Amino acid sequence: MKILALIGSPRKKGNTDLLVDAALGEVAKRGHTGEKLYLYDYALRPCVDCRACKQGEKVCVQKDDMPKIYRAIDAADVLILATPIYWYGPTAQMKLLIDRLRPYVANRRLEGKKAYLIAPSEEGPSACGPLVDSLKMSYKYLGLVYGGEVLVTANEKGEVANKPGEMEMARRLLDDL
Ligand SMILES: Cc1cc2nc3c(=O)[nH]c(=O)nc-3n(C[C@H](O)[C@H](O)[C@H](O)COP(=O)(O)O)c2cc1C
Repeated sequence: MKILALIGSPRKKGNTDLLVDAALGEVAKRGHTGEKLYLYDYALRPCVDCRACKQGEKVCVQKDDMPKIYRAIDAADVLILATPIYWYGPTAQMKLLIDRLRPYVANRRLEGKKAYLIAPSEEGPSACGPLVDSLKMSYKYLGLVYGGEVLVTANEKGEVANKPGEMEMARRLLDDL
């Protein structure tokens, strides 16, 4: 299976990135392929509710880097949305991505795909309730099957690498694939 991790942290080799590496490294041993895509490397415009994606070919008509991401999403069997907690929600770049998933509401191309969540934060799981709830509802609305989450306490860049229990949680995230 092809697993696509959409990384919403601006910090490469930060906590989100390392947790994704742990999850993807483990499934690679079982023959799956993993791809990481750093959302901060892409110029993404906000959804402007033009509703063009509800008509015709049911695609977004904005001119930015999003078509590259749509192609990667379409090619993937499984998605991981990975974002640090910023103000009890996703980062701004991850929110841009989520808003731009609107064409999939109409074209249903995500129907039945599995999707996971990875979210480190300074305060840990107790700070993640709003994000987990909103993502679960959004996944359901899109027809995605919620696979589970890894929520860990980490703040300094790369700190999670020194937390064997948390790294193990990430390695186990995709065990059901
Ligand atoms: C703008 C901003 C807002 C943040 N908001 C929260 C928050 O609401 N709760 C929390 O626990 N941590 C918060 N954090 C801390 C990050 O979630 C934490 O440092 C995380 O480990 C960063 O992940 P990264 O290394 O993958 O970038 C915030 C950090 C930034 C920069």
